[in-house]
Amino acid sequence: MSKQRVLSGVQPTGNLHLGNYLGAIRNWVEGQSQYDNFFCVVDLHAITAPHNPATLASDTYTIAALYLACGIDLNHAQIFIQSHVSAHSELAWLLNCITPLNWLQDMIQFKEKAVKQGENVNTGLLDYPVLMAADILLYQADKVPVGEDQKQHLELTRDIANRFNFQFARKKPVLKLPEPLIRKEGARVMSLTDGTKKMSKSDPSEQSRINLLDTPEQIQKKIKRCKTDLVKGLVFDDPERPECHNLLTLYMLLGGKTKEVVAQECQEMGWGQFKPLLADAAVEALKPIQDKYWAVMNDRSYLESVLRQGREKAEEIADETLTQVKKAMGYSLP
Ligand code: TRP
Repeated sequence: MSKQRVLSGVQPTGNLHLGNYLGAIRNWVEGQSQYDNFFCVVDLHAITAPHNPATLASDTYTIAALYLACGIDLNHAQIFIQSHVSAHSELAWLLNCITPLNWLQDMIQFKEKAVKQGENVNTGLLDYPVLMAADILLYQADKVPVGEDQKQHLELTRDIANRFNFQFARKKPVLKLPEPLIRKEGARVMSLTDGTKKMSKSDPSEQSRINLLDTPEQIQKKIKRCKTDLVKGLVFDDPERPECHNLLTLYMLLGGKTKEVVAQECQEMGWGQFKPLLADAAVEALKPIQDKYWAVMNDRSYLESVLRQGREKAEEIADETLTQVKKAMGYSLP
């Protein structure tokens, strides 16, 4: 039996941080040998908010290199850039024309981003979930690793696929319905300035997150200044102490320790003792990723060959699906 296919993507906006790594990419890496994986850098999604043309390409390569640096293994995965495979844009258009407008207007993330972007809401922001549906459906993905915030987009993807199959491919469905891939230990990494908010690329404060490419000095400084509380003795799962829970969780994940071991180790500690330990754990965990990242970035022709191969493999599958979709919709094919 062939392996199930997984597809996921990250936008090339801002730097990847510990939340992206511990909550998402690390899980992709752990599960990668079980699946046939496609990981893309979704640079078409990146322009749904105002973007900087001078850095778009380099930001895109940075994410691709970080995939490799985090341990994505080319024996199990393809890495490619969304805009290099033109079928994404094309399928998005075709799916646009079967997606009811109110489905998009009702999406939680659209409503939230629309408020944030104020005057700057373009049609692409509304259409973002249709492009994401195209990303997934083109590859006939079985599983999509998603966090809580992307679940609604995956449901929409299934709704669109169902509607397409119902309208145009009733006898033999063309599009596969993807399932979310949710790991049991889905780590939710919270902001360093507010333990009740997710660590996020879009938080204006750099102090709120640790980026994968932060220097040891930056990491130490951020941890020194991060929000804590006045209680001595550090514990997990106290709803009154969200920062404490978050920092212990980080310490556990970065050090590869179990919750029990960390709970025991830290139960009597004060912040002054704990923070340097956490900073060391973060620096140490990120060092191999950073080393690999710079090795990849300094070998541009290697990175380009990885992306070329990824693109070729991706295109093969994507173009086949696109052809089937166009046929089902009644297009003449060249
Ligand atoms: N919307 C996703 C996010 O912000 C990124 C994304 C785009 C994606 N296309 C995708 C994720 C396809 C999974 C599958 O995280």
